[in-house]
Amino acid sequence: MTKTPAQNTPATIYLKDYARPEFTIEKLDLEFELTAAMTTVKSTMELHKVDATTQHLVLQGEALELISISMNKNILLPEQYRLTATQLTILAVPETFSLEIIVQIKPQENTQLSGLYRSGATFVTQCEAEGFRRITYFLDRPDVLTHYTTKIIADRHQYPHLLSNGNLVAKGELENQRHWVKWEDPFRKPCYLFALVAGQFELLEDYFITQSGRRILLHIYTEKGYLDQCHCAMQAVKKAMTWDEENYGREYDLDIFMIVAISDFNSGAMENKGLNIFNTKYILAKPDTATDEDYIYIQTVVAHEYFHNWTGNRITCRDWFQLSLKEGLTVFRDQSFTADVTDHGVARIYDVNKLRNRQFPEDAGPLAHPVRPDSYIEISNFYTTTIYEKGAEIIRVIQTLLGKVLFRRGMDLYFTRHDGQAVTIEDFVRAMEDASGMNLTQCRLWYEQAGTPLVKVTADYDAATKRYTLTLEQGCLPTPGQPYKKPMHIPVRTALFDHQGQTLLLDTDDGRPGLEKILQLKEITTTVTFKNVPERPIPSLLRHFSAPIKLQFDYSEEELVLLIKHDTDAFNRWEASQIYAQRLLLELIATYQQKRPLQMPEKFTELLRSLLNDKQLNKQLLSALLTLPSEIYLAEHMAVVDVEAIFAAREFVKLNIATALRAEFFATYQENVTTETGIIFTLANVGKRQLKNVALQYLLLLPDPALRKLGHQQFVTSLPLNMTDTMAALRGLSHLAIPERELALEQFYTRWRHEPLIIDKWFAVQAASLLPDTLPQVERLTHHEAFDIKNPNKVYALIGTFGQQNMLRFHAADGAGYHFLGKFILQLDKLNSNVAARMLKPLTEWRRQDSSRAALMCAQLEIMMRTPGISNDIYELVTKSLA
Ligand code: BES
Ligand code: ZN
Repeated sequence: MTKTPAQNTPATIYLKDYARPEFTIEKLDLEFELTAAMTTVKSTMELHKVDATTQHLVLQGEALELISISMNKNILLPEQYRLTATQLTILAVPETFSLEIIVQIKPQENTQLSGLYRSGATFVTQCEAEGFRRITYFLDRPDVLTHYTTKIIADRHQYPHLLSNGNLVAKGELENQRHWVKWEDPFRKPCYLFALVAGQFELLEDYFITQSGRRILLHIYTEKGYLDQCHCAMQAVKKAMTWDEENYGREYDLDIFMIVAISDFNSGAMENKGLNIFNTKYILAKPDTATDEDYIYIQTVVAHEYFHNWTGNRITCRDWFQLSLKEGLTVFRDQSFTADVTDHGVARIYDVNKLRNRQFPEDAGPLAHPVRPDSYIEISNFYTTTIYEKGAEIIRVIQTLLGKVLFRRGMDLYFTRHDGQAVTIEDFVRAMEDASGMNLTQCRLWYEQAGTPLVKVTADYDAATKRYTLTLEQGCLPTPGQPYKKPMHIPVRTALFDHQGQTLLLDTDDGRPGLEKILQLKEITTTVTFKNVPERPIPSLLRHFSAPIKLQFDYSEEELVLLIKHDTDAFNRWEASQIYAQRLLLELIATYQQKRPLQMPEKFTELLRSLLNDKQLNKQLLSALLTLPSEIYLAEHMAVVDVEAIFAAREFVKLNIATALRAEFFATYQENVTTETGIIFTLANVGKRQLKNVALQYLLLLPDPALRKLGHQQFVTSLPLNMTDTMAALRGLSHLAIPERELALEQFYTRWRHEPLIIDKWFAVQAASLLPDTLPQVERLTHHEAFDIKNPNKVYALIGTFGQQNMLRFHAADGAGYHFLGKFILQLDKLNSNVAARMLKPLTEWRRQDSSRAALMCAQLEIMMRTPGISNDIYELVTKSLA
């Protein structure tokens, strides 16, 4: 069951070619008979022509064995249809007819994990985006909505649980130890939201009472032995249901909501109607197995998939070019939820950090594309950080422009106007305009233009007239297919501070006075004048990151320090610290490149010392302030990336900080040890652990046996109790060539060898090690008994971490990292092209590397192009990146 290879040039699909479906499907009855040898799928549907002049019915199908087709109960003869590897065409069909198609499939041989496949002893489906065509012949497109009933027949003992979308309406027993169930989904849906699960599970049950008083059953299904790890996810379901009622007035609409946790899953989770399917990684958690980060992300993912019930399922996408309609909007909703249940400032810092480390590089590279793309070859390549995270930022821009009240009115209108429909991003924007009375014409450019806008800000203060003028100039570099860009509508949230760190009352020609003003950039150049400004102020710009742009302003060091200490916007406090550190690091990088000795300015360590001594500071915010900008973010600021210089400068600064602040870090470490045995996951404890572990990372940089012992001690004590502390210690040790490192890795493996999900952490920490022999270690680990190339989580942990989170070792000057990754991808492509394509990303961004590395990276891409039978997924990314 390998995917159609790119023997010939695969076809490009264009948005401009969109045409409405030629048929409607009244209802679809599915019947699955699951056996060890094969699965038989019978589908019965009622079709109507939309336009009487249409002749043939064209259905998609892939890796299916056709058994029979009947129209209006008559078996079709071979001359009445045409069959290719990807299409079934039924010739000369009447206006209205019923069609019964029987196919056979082999889920046990499906390594793509798309369509119906097996994960261990479980049958499970993944249909988004185009997996349903690997189950039966169908109009596999999101704008064909229909009513589903699903009958499942299977062995009673091996598959006691038979699940599908909607409500269970009938069940019974059959001969030969088999049983059957029938599910009916009362809501019309596109086939990408279909799901089926069959297996033997443990079930965590709970319920939720909706705002209108309906009682909803909540079920989480998991492999035997993991029930105690489902409570975090269950709490998250309830919190998400409450949040959507309170914030959007959206209630759950079926009587049962089910989640199934699956070990082999290409993505994180999937929002199938009433039956969400999750990667075990985003469900299972208890304090000794999951880090605080895992806990928070589980809540976010559970909420995300739940929120899709309205933004994605009740209102779905007309075509896959509109993917951000559901994904960008739902990420925006899950971000808002996470901010509400954690901390607004800290949550924003994490979201922006992710955007900058992943989306900005994508937007500046060969795979840059608009949030609503114009074309694609393989849709699964377009589940990108641009569609998701930049898409979410655009929704936030709209919310900022409209204000919260009008934005909510726009959402209400969107829900009532389009419930039950498959719509476009344009429909969404129009609902926002109609509800608010605002004109969002220019705002639509955010969906059309790729690339990250750059806004350069200059300031002028006239002491005589007490006027302060900001001049903001916007531009955007060319991206593939878009040489010129129009100016965008950019909201820049702004406040002004005086030299005591007090916020100034703003007085401009437009708008009422207030402490914050949203500057509206619409032209290339915008000028804003503030009146009655008593002294030259310090501007706090782009507060809370009010638009997904790069902003430049020439702050003095003193101004940055003032903002770090006094800005009332937590995000901008962090931002000022990042600008400060980034400037220092870029200077040191240049010094290193000139082969001059590096020198550490005392002012910077003194600043950090004063922050460490500020007991009022939120500990998560303090942890973020103490963390230097990432290698990737620094690389973004260099014309030609110099991996070694970035690394040398960063390590130099880190070591100097650790040396200068050793006493403070040690005290911080001791003050923040958490010993609670009761409720471990509280925000206060998360903050303490995070700060303590930041201190530990610095302390472990010092060549002091006592500190290394401390690290290993933390590892040993926390191993049976708390994964956050275990992983923090292990991460710190992993970069050191000392016996404690090997000992800890061995102890970890011994403790967790029977828990594949936890062993993923063990793979990842080794793949991220800065030690010089990391590549040979990673190669060795691909042959380890616990590694399995067919399990996506294993690949993400070992190969993904190495390629995406170990800049130093992946970009080894001799190209050995590239060679290893290239070879691995070709091997994986034959089994699972979707996961293989996800691993390719680091090789595609070769353009900004030095010429020698760029050539070595291209060489790997060219080998792929010459390899016969590569998937469309790989073909598309390689050709676009070499173009
Ligand atoms: N609809 C997607 C699942 C999906 C992803 C289907 C890729 C097909 C291809 C789901 O809603 C999703 O976006 N999941 C995310 C997690 C989420 C919290 C952003 C994922 O799987 O990473
Ligand atoms: Zn999603």
